[in-house]
Amino acid sequence: MKVISSIHELRDQLRGQNRVAFVPTMGNLHEGHLSLMRLARQHGDPVVASIFVNRLQFGPNEDFDKYPRTMENDIEKLQSENVYVLFAPTETELYPEPQQYRVHPPTDLGDILEGEFRPGFFQGVCTVVTKLFSCVSPRVAVFGKKDYQQLMIIRRMAHQFALPTDIIAAETVRDSDGLALSSRNRYLQPAERAEAPRLYALLSELRDAVKNGQHDFAALEQAAMRTLEQHGWKPDYVAVRRQADLKTPGANEVEAPLVVLAAAKIGATRLIDNLEI
Ligand code: PAJ
Repeated sequence: MKVISSIHELRDQLRGQNRVAFVPTMGNLHEGHLSLMRLARQHGDPVVASIFVNRLQFGPNEDFDKYPRTMENDIEKLQSENVYVLFAPTETELYPEPQQYRVHPPTDLGDILEGEFRPGFFQGVCTVVTKLFSCVSPRVAVFGKKDYQQLMIIRRMAHQFALPTDIIAAETVRDSDGLALSSRNRYLQPAERAEAPRLYALLSELRDAVKNGQHDFAALEQAAMRTLEQHGWKPDYVAVRRQADLKTPGANEVEAPLVVLAAAKIGATRLIDNLEI
């Protein structure tokens, strides 16, 4: 595997490749990320990964400085997944000057759910993904359903800009107790780690309740938030939404494909998860 930090060198290395499958990440790689590499391999060749902790998508009180950076470990993992190139630009390489041109997702998708609690987050994500796509010129790019709203926003962006990159969705990889793998799980204290699977357990219960004909979504959402609070969490949202556009389903839309999404803090760590219904 070649580890490349310059955009110029990356373009040289990939010249003539028109089936590149790309997996952008912020590093601290776990099995979830590696499953994306394997899926990428099925959809293109060579596989290119990136590691870049993107300051633009972190709020002022978020964990940019603390975000785990484990480059040596990450390189080993990618090597054993047959990744051809790791693009790992420095901040001055990707943002040599203030990034004044930015990609703004539409507010009805970008300012709800995660976007409501992390203002500017999806603008930061769309901007860096656009820039990374411009560096890598991928034929396909793989994103995880773990970040369901991110996946949808990127997919729409690629569609509206007629980008030559197909967006592929990967299923969420979980620990045996249901907790979705996340780089942020390493912040959890032992007692919090023991409590953390409740988020997935609650989403599963909510999915089953909807499948069994309970259609008072607001009541289900509030009950789930209360349960989280009773166990010491600080929930931002638990929301049943339409898969198609993440809007609240109308009363006559209970048969539409739905997804239940949640974000909650346990101690100092904010976890997100979702489940398609
Ligand atoms: P990061 O959080 O590192 O995630 C990189 C990719 O891995 C994303 O597509 C995410 O959805 C996927 N992923 C994370 N945990 C997963 C899991 N448990 N199962 C399956 N896939 C999982 O998401 C980002 O980085 C950034 O926002 C990025 C897109 C790189 C832009 O900076």
